[in-house]
Order: sequence, then C-alpha cells, then structure tokens
Amino acid sequence: MKSAIEFVKKQLGDIPEIAVVLGSGLGSFANRLNNKTTIPYEAIPNYPQTSIIGHSGQFIFGTIGGKKVLAAQGRFHYYEGHNLETIVKPIKLFHGLGIKTLIITNAAGSLDKAFPPGTIMGVNGHMDCTYRDSCEDPAMMNHAKYHDEALLKGFKTIANNLAIPVTIGTYCWTMGPNYETPAEVQNCKELGGQAVGMSTVPEIQMGAELDMSILGISLLTNYAAGISKTELSHDEVIETANQTEAKFVQLLTGIIKNI
Ligand code: HPA
Repeated sequence: MKSAIEFVKKQLGDIPEIAVVLGSGLGSFANRLNNKTTIPYEAIPNYPQTSIIGHSGQFIFGTIGGKKVLAAQGRFHYYEGHNLETIVKPIKLFHGLGIKTLIITNAAGSLDKAFPPGTIMGVNGHMDCTYRDSCEDPAMMNHAKYHDEALLKGFKTIANNLAIPVTIGTYCWTMGPNYETPAEVQNCKELGGQAVGMSTVPEIQMGAELDMSILGISLLTNYAAGISKTELSHDEVIETANQTEAKFVQLLTGIIKNI
C-alpha cells in the first residue's frame, strides 16, 4: 500500500478529514464537491481496478460544508474475484492518508415490507451471511467500534431536520454476484437482518481494525427476492438509486457538515 498512499498524498497535497465510499448508483455525490481533484484508480500504483456498471473507479477529493472529503466512486467486491485483502485496500489507503472518519454507502435489498424501495437505512449492525468458512449462523456485529454511535445519532438528527424518512437496521453481507434466492433472503431475515447486499462488511471490519469511526448507510433499492412479487434486476437497483439520489446526497451532505 505504501506506494499507493504516497502517490495519492502527493496528488492531493492536502489531508482529507472524511472518506466516503459510494455504492451502486450513488456516485453523483462526488459531483457536489467543490475544488475537485480526480484520481482514476488506474493511475495509482499497485491499486486494483473496478469492473461493475454504475461504478466509475476513481477518487474525487474536494470540500463540502467546510469539510475535506475524499470520495471513492467504485469499490471492489468479493464476487468480482477479488480476495479480501484487495477489497479493503481503499480503507487502508484512507487510513494511510490520516483519515479517521469513514462513511460507507451501498445499495441493498430490503428484507422488510415496511421499508419500501427508496428507504435510506443507517446501519447499526452487520452480519457476514456468506457462509464462506462455516455453516454456523453468523454473529450479529453491532458494537460501536463498527457502527459509531455519534455518527448514527448525527444521521438520525440530520434526517429529521431535513424531513427525510429513514430507518435503522442490520446489513447482511451475501456473496453474490447473483441476487439471493428467496430462501437465502428468508434466512437473513430470520437472523435479524433488515437489508441484504454484496459489499460493505469487509470494509467495516477493516475500518474497525484500524480504529476508524464508521457510519454505514444503505439505500434500499428493491425488495429482496421473495419479499415482493416483482422480479429483481440490476436496472431496478440503478433506477431506484437514481430516483432517490437527490435525497441521499442532501442527507449525506448534511451529515458531513455536522461531523
Ligand atoms: N441483494 C443483494 N444486493 C443488492 C440488492 C439485493 O436485493 N439490491 C441492491 N444490491
């Protein structure tokens, strides 16, 4: 990571305060930053590349609400064939730059009829539902070292001030690349989850290991398979993300200002 960190440091010429990982269809937040510096991932030595539609693969550094923010447009997923070490490289990079606050966003499926597509969820717990290493049910990880209490409180307060309805819940990480089967969705629900998606958990784990303050935000873009009768597609995910993006960006901007 050393060469990657040195390279980005030099390009930025400044130390960001907050890092934001932007999920599927949520990349436009970065366009709102002022005095932007853009660094394509491909320009960074020893740094991986993204391959997903809706993820551009670049860092955008700039200011918003008086805060210096480094946004990642595009992340690395387990289902792309990356190992865990690669997936958490952005987090190691942020830490290496001296960033202490990490906001991780994603698009996710809703496990609860009460949270329709377009709902924004603050993450106060996560579970590794990939069953990669064991067939034991995963533990609920809801410690404040993974889900910072002050950041979650800020999330709720700002949403309230802006009259944006939000919910709070647990994010379940599944392996992908396919959307879950209705049986897998039911399992996540029975374990106590409210959202299901294919990212974020390794990033939260690494951020916690590096002692960063972490806020996870899920945009629930669809009902998870079997929760409603509509068939899922990546297009639906992108479409809902696009429709909800303005609200999401407004909320994220408010949260950042408040930090
Ligand atoms: N499942 C997994 N990942 C997702 C979903 C889903 O239903 N929606 C958006 N990302």
